[in-house]
Amino acid sequence: MPNVFIKTYGCQMNQRDSEQVARMFTEGGYTVTGDEFEADAILVNTCSVRDQAEQKALGKMGHMGKHRTLKPHVVYGFMGCMAQSRGQELFQNIPHLDVVVGTQKYHKVFEYVDTILQSRLERRMDDLELAYKGDHICDVAEEKDSQNTIKDHVNTTTDPTAFVSIMQGCNMKCSYCIVPDTRGRERGRPIADIVAECTTLASRGVKEVTLLGQIVNLYGRTEFPKVDGKSPFVQLLEAVHEVEGIERIRFTSPHPVGFRDDLITAFTYLPKLCSHIHFPMQSGSDKILKAMRRPYKNEKFVEIIKKMKTARPDMAVTTDIIVGFPGETEEDFIDTLNTVKELEFDNCFVFRYSQRRNTPAAEMLEQHTEQTKEDRNQRLLTLVNEIAQRKNHALVGSVQEVLCTGPSKSNADTLNSRTPQNKIVILEGNPDRLVGKVFKAEITGCTGYTLYGTPLID
Ligand code: SAH
Ligand code: SF4
Ligand code: F3S
Repeated sequence: MPNVFIKTYGCQMNQRDSEQVARMFTEGGYTVTGDEFEADAILVNTCSVRDQAEQKALGKMGHMGKHRTLKPHVVYGFMGCMAQSRGQELFQNIPHLDVVVGTQKYHKVFEYVDTILQSRLERRMDDLELAYKGDHICDVAEEKDSQNTIKDHVNTTTDPTAFVSIMQGCNMKCSYCIVPDTRGRERGRPIADIVAECTTLASRGVKEVTLLGQIVNLYGRTEFPKVDGKSPFVQLLEAVHEVEGIERIRFTSPHPVGFRDDLITAFTYLPKLCSHIHFPMQSGSDKILKAMRRPYKNEKFVEIIKKMKTARPDMAVTTDIIVGFPGETEEDFIDTLNTVKELEFDNCFVFRYSQRRNTPAAEMLEQHTEQTKEDRNQRLLTLVNEIAQRKNHALVGSVQEVLCTGPSKSNADTLNSRTPQNKIVILEGNPDRLVGKVFKAEITGCTGYTLYGTPLID
């Protein structure tokens, strides 16, 4: 049985896409391996959002080229956003590459890779040296309804959490962002299909689903009508809420555009919705938001968070912020620091602005040096950490509801769990009794971003 190794970079959507690809390989008789050394097919699912992400994927793929010296039949594939934006040119950069597949063609990866692998294995029967023959397949075309192809899960895992991709693409034009280029126009899946997927997941023991979209709250706005003043996204939340066995619902990422009262109110009557939103702010300066082409002002962003905290007083909010955007002055940066102080995010992903090809911000004149970006990065991180850790320490002694997700990666004797606010709690206890269950735990300690707890369960 051939083995496939899949390395994934980038966002949760990419993880989900990789899972769909893995599922197709298992259906085709392959084994998914975590060890690149035993792989017959090596795939990298790539991200283009920052230069660093691209360099990592190129570096890893370059390095893995060595496997062909021992196994000339190995098939190499590049998938995802970088494959989409670079296409054919990747064959020049990576001489051993065989397959390049874009973001609307994940469902074709298996067929392309397997065809090449089978023909190489046949040739190898005659002579090992004959196995390798340069085969280049590049498919980065658009595919109508490709959003409906990301729907199956690998059914061998015991993970009680799952991602569900509810839409693809983004119609915004944030001036720094390559995603609209790599993911195409916004398009949603039918509610019934998403509910069916969640029902299947629940029947396999999944307790928590995270609904994924680039601007998840805009789900379905071009395809499906409002009903009783409720957006298609709120209708979807209500429908998923009905699925028996699903105990927790998350979604990521929402955007201030279209974040209306129907969504805020949903948090008052849908108890399965977790008290956490990851709500990217990008900047606290109106001038920079405008230059970023983010169509909201700081005041609006703050107002939505305040309303969310009124709807759910225990609401945790995390965010994304870009530092060192072209033209960002010290005053603009201080506006960001002040908003972070005011809103007290539970966590914040800070990104140094990275110039992306074919984006307007890359052409702006007032680009910052790496030094300035790094300085601001450090100053913001210091503030973010101070706030987040203070909030986490304050939880020591409290009782939180957790979902136990499985053994902890760093110490197999302990178990990982998450609160509704998405905070990690490390527990001790019997995995057979705890994994996959939602229960109360007393928080006994905290080291910055990790909490420690004792299960309160018989
Ligand atoms: N669709 C989401 C964001 C997806 S990209 C939204 O708009 O909310 C994830 C994050 O990467 C963004 O929130 C942004 O903070 C960061 N990002 C995107 N392009 C970037 C760039 N060119 N340089 C640095 N960070 C970037
Ligand atoms: Fe990128 Fe903006 Fe779309 Fe988010 S909303 S994916 S940041 S263009
Ligand atoms: Fe990266 Fe593409 Fe996601 S650029 S962040 S993998 S949509």
